[in-house]
Amino acid sequence: MKNLAVLLSGRGSNFEAIRAAVDDGTLGAKIVAVVSNKPDAQGLARAREAGLPAFAIDHKQFPNREAHERAVVATLQAAGAGFVALAGYMRLLTTTLIEPFRGRILNIHPSLLPAFPGVNAQAQALAHGVKVSGCTVHLVDETLDNGPIIVQHVVPILDDDTEESLAARILVEEHKAYVEALQIVFEGTYRVEGRRFVRNT
Ligand code: GRF
Repeated sequence: MKNLAVLLSGRGSNFEAIRAAVDDGTLGAKIVAVVSNKPDAQGLARAREAGLPAFAIDHKQFPNREAHERAVVATLQAAGAGFVALAGYMRLLTTTLIEPFRGRILNIHPSLLPAFPGVNAQAQALAHGVKVSGCTVHLVDETLDNGPIIVQHVVPILDDDTEESLAARILVEEHKAYVEALQIVFEGTYRVEGRRFVRNT
């Protein structure tokens, strides 16, 4: 059984997908903390409704990024978190938060990285005119949307897609990809060779 914390800033649909997979036994994990830098995040309300330990740690209440990250780390450690899933957590992470959980922090991004990192990935994909996009779950390092790639799911881009229709199609795959990636990481049957995340055979 792995102790998992989820960090989010918004809606929390990826958190809900993870929670559902925990509840039905697909993931052998316990969600020990749900943390948001946005006190009014819908995902935090969903966590409270589910009876999970939910913590608002508002970055605006701290003098700088490091102080905020130290508070987040203290909360995660007090909860006994072994793994951290970033699920729409809209903050850049520094070593202060990464180092205590290095190799055990995952992030999801709504594009096929390294294409279209950063915000508005779906709009970037449409504007560029690519014919496929998708989502990426990766290990987190100090560079935005950069760490070794665990899982990617591809979706087609249709001629009549809008940002909303594409985001919705990608989101369906995000929910599956995140659970898959967590399963793989929890199993621990992989190694990281440079940038490459390689499954043991
Ligand atoms: C997702 O598209 C995720 O890939 C991105 O932010 C969005 C969060 O959605 N990083 P939700 O809060 O999980 O519903």
